Amino acid sequence: MAFENSSGETDLSVETSGKPVAENRRGFVKKLAVTALALGAGGLTVQFGRFMTPNVLYEAAKVFKVGKLGDFPIGSRIVIEGRGVEIVRGKEGIHAISLVCTHLGCLVNPVKNDPEVGYACPCHGSRFAPTGKVLGGAAPTDLPWYEMYMDHMGTLVVDASTVNHKRTKLVV
Ligand code: FES
Repeated sequence: MAFENSSGETDLSVETSGKPVAENRRGFVKKLAVTALALGAGGLTVQFGRFMTPNVLYEAAKVFKVGKLGDFPIGSRIVIEGRGVEIVRGKEGIHAISLVCTHLGCLVNPVKNDPEVGYACPCHGSRFAPTGKVLGGAAPTDLPWYEMYMDHMGTLVVDASTVNHKRTKLVV
């Protein structure tokens, strides 16, 4: 608070709340410095944490296990959650088909009540045969099949980095 003295000048050294102004100002500057220091230390800690964390994009592995043969009975179609792949087992063998629409990448839905249609895309209406062949819609190409093999432990493995162009089924 400021007051005018008898000579008309403003006097800033008047006490407020029992402490001299200079002391109040010193306390304020001290608190400001401590706050700035704390913020600076916090910022440095965050930056250090970011520096110590590798700047990489984590992607799901392209080669992954899907289960034992017994998990896929003949006649089954089982979607592997989070992988965009369906495992289809028939009498002639087993194969892995991509569920990622070749138009803009939506996940297609398996269709089980229509022998002509195997998959339908919910985004723009593309439809695919049970083999993955395009039947209609915006999708430019068929749904790819991925390479599949059985490892030495008898576990089925899908290699989604390799397209099975010949569409050969794994005979088991
Ligand atoms: S993303 Fe499937 S039809 Fe467009």
